[in-house]
Amino acid sequence: MKKRKVALITGAAKRIGAAIADRLHNDGYNIVIHYGNSVDAAKNLQQKLEYKRADSTRLVSANLTDPQAVYNLAKTALDSWGIISVLINNASCFYPTPIGATSDEHWSTIMDVNVKAPYMLSQHLRNTLSESHGCIINITDIYADRPLQLHSVYSASKAALVSLTKSMAAELAPEIRVNAVSPGAILWPENNLTDTDTILSRIPLKRCGSPKDITDAIDYFLNSNYVTGQILKIDGGRTTLP
Ligand SMILES: NC(=O)c1ccc[n+]([C@@H]2O[C@H](COP(=O)([O-])OP(=O)(O)OC[C@H]3O[C@@H](n4cnc5c(N)ncnc54)[C@H](OP(=O)(O)O)[C@@H]3O)[C@@H](O)[C@H]2O)c1
Repeated sequence: MKKRKVALITGAAKRIGAAIADRLHNDGYNIVIHYGNSVDAAKNLQQKLEYKRADSTRLVSANLTDPQAVYNLAKTALDSWGIISVLINNASCFYPTPIGATSDEHWSTIMDVNVKAPYMLSQHLRNTLSESHGCIINITDIYADRPLQLHSVYSASKAALVSLTKSMAAELAPEIRVNAVSPGAILWPENNLTDTDTILSRIPLKRCGSPKDITDAIDYFLNSNYVTGQILKIDGGRTTLP
């Protein structure tokens, strides 16, 4: 039997993606947990969710730089319960690309993961999302508007994702709503190279957000049937200042 509420969440094994999976699962969704390399974290998350509700999750690994893997991910996700009603494009590639030290591969990897894969997954899943009057939610970044120094390719990729959010919202309406959440500082990158004091001093609310702030924004979009093509900044007021 078909299950009406099924979400595919990319990069869902850890961090913000795992929080999104947990929240949607709590709200009654069956979850397709996509991951790249984090197999142990993905299995732990699946175990936790399955303990709460049996047969409510699937795990799918895919390298989002590989077009065939992206296609297979969409197909496997759809085959899981015969429907995808929500696609959350959360997976992301983030590293510095100083001008003068950026290779073709750096450029392609960031653009493939952050822009092309969200677009292609939306395209592959368009029919099922249409049939379920579903939603696509892209996770962008406030650096889409004001680029982060030495991260021009990442910043450009998120700006492209903002643009895609608006054009897909127009093109896929009225059946599918497409919106984006644009986080500021939520979780520090795992490489620990960030100057956290400087970043916090520029945030009016003087603290990081939490993954729950992102899942609250997703919840808003999922439950707001007259909202499409919007970008919601969750940034503690950072973008109110220069
Ligand atoms: N953290 C923040 O404060 C912050 C701020 C602004 C915007 N954001 C945005 O919010 C979202 C979540 O942030 P986050 O910090 O939780 O993300 P993250 O840890 O940087 O990345 C999420 C996941 O993306 C997956 N990924 C990366 N490259 C991949 C590839 N080639 N193939 C498949 N999967 C790939 C990784 O999966 P595996 O680990 O399984 O390989 C990773 O766990 C991202 O879109 C990010 O840009 C976050």
